[in-house]
Amino acid sequence: MKDYSKYFTGPSLKDAKHRGKDKVHHIDDAYEVPTDMIGIGKGQKYFIQTYGCQANERDSETLAGILETLGYDATDEIKDAQVVLLNTCAIRENAEEKVFGKIGYLKKLKRTNPNIIFGICGCMAQEEVVIKRILEKHHQVDMIFGTHNIHRLPILLKQAMLEKEMVLEVWSKEGDVIENLPSHRVHPYKAWVNIMYGCNKFCTYCIVPYTRGKERSRLSKEILEEVVSLKNEGYQEITLLGQNVNSYGKDFDNNYNFASLLEDVAKTGIPRIRFTTSHPWDFTDDMIDTIAQYGNIMPAIHLPVQSGNSEVLKRMGRRYSREQYLDLFDRIKKRIPDCTITTDIIVGFPGETDEQFEDTLSLYEHCEYDLAYTFIYSPRDGTPAAAMEDDIDIHTKEQRLYRLNDLVNEKAHMQNQKYLHQIVEVLVEGVSKKDDDMLTGYTAHQKLVNFKGNKEHIGRIVPVRIIEAKTWALKGEEIE
Ligand code: SAH
Ligand code: SF4
Ligand code: F3S
Repeated sequence: MKDYSKYFTGPSLKDAKHRGKDKVHHIDDAYEVPTDMIGIGKGQKYFIQTYGCQANERDSETLAGILETLGYDATDEIKDAQVVLLNTCAIRENAEEKVFGKIGYLKKLKRTNPNIIFGICGCMAQEEVVIKRILEKHHQVDMIFGTHNIHRLPILLKQAMLEKEMVLEVWSKEGDVIENLPSHRVHPYKAWVNIMYGCNKFCTYCIVPYTRGKERSRLSKEILEEVVSLKNEGYQEITLLGQNVNSYGKDFDNNYNFASLLEDVAKTGIPRIRFTTSHPWDFTDDMIDTIAQYGNIMPAIHLPVQSGNSEVLKRMGRRYSREQYLDLFDRIKKRIPDCTITTDIIVGFPGETDEQFEDTLSLYEHCEYDLAYTFIYSPRDGTPAAAMEDDIDIHTKEQRLYRLNDLVNEKAHMQNQKYLHQIVEVLVEGVSKKDDDMLTGYTAHQKLVNFKGNKEHIGRIVPVRIIEAKTWALKGEEIE
């Protein structure tokens, strides 16, 4: 087998862990297109498959925007594409195995069409174990780049076209904040807006601080300009994105923080503002006040708890106890009584006892979340938790997940009943995929509604009367 080790200029999780004091630069001219790449994709197509969280969804919009400036058109059919990118997620093992399954499938595709350029990017590209596996076993991959250098796609694509060897460019250390990248947004009425990159929390189970680098905030001026131009283009809703949006501005020398930004974004008058994700540790009362004060900041907060037991939380490195979390939860509900709160929970963290898991269930009973994303703990190479003994058998982990999910469903159903016979405002996103006669959209409280209504109202916020409340969705009729 060919020795690929000499090409290994790839990532290092160890280097990525380092949080230097280097100043972050905000750069607006880093994106360059080699002159011979302009129009290179004319008449050709690209296909991007996105895995993982909203950060990746947003990055894929940038990748799409870049490919379109090179002349490529989008396709939903992987077989018709000349450029195929997999924008990957490293959060759990099963996320990674899904990607490797796809890489295997692409080997076949490449046999029938050897001219396809096949690229891997996103969080998995930042992991050396993944890169080694690809270099050893998956020579059908032409190009690998990471989360910090997506603006270099035109240059990397050019190299991949010219060179026979695999192009590998992954920066272990985060770069600067790069502005002015093209983008092709997926939704016509709602948009993702990055407000910061990276994460400094280092929860012990989590790979993200390594794959996304240190926290770097975008300048508020850039964010507000983006929001205003989205509003002028007719967008109804924006979601401010960061791994922990509460940390926004902590890397600045002034007191401008997430509450300040939220307020300024609210003042732009864009109809709906959401944000994700908030870490419970630095969720301030100022933030709660701002959310309560502005009608265009949606009363729906995602507040991941991860576990209901203080000892487990400590070993997860979450920096709050069960009591502190509940105190915050209750303060939010007191100030914004109709606020919906959703969460993330991990079961089977190393050493989690039956009693500790029961604490998660009892916390859930107290909070009666509107929804929760629940996961079985998955050890991630290079994280502190991966060095703890993963001592809970898979059967026990699954049983805990099933029990938790039963509770999640019960509470979701219960919470949805509140909206029965109510009139709610829905941002109409389009025709339901399951039923041509129904429209679909979300309420202010982030509830999915399928309803009978006027197709001409797609893209608008309309009143809908709820006639049925199910576990995962509401059913309604638009009020003329
Ligand atoms: N930055 C966000 C979410 C990041 S990942 C936050 O802090 O809330 C989304 C969710 O995946 C996490 O909230 C956690 O519940 C889950 N997760 C992260 N690492 C995991 C792991 N190693 N095993 C299982 N679930 C994990
Ligand atoms: Fe991961 Fe914790 Fe950062 Fe969220 S806050 S991305 S769970 S390290
Ligand atoms: Fe996955 Fe990376 Fe997001 S690991 S969850 S795509 S930040």
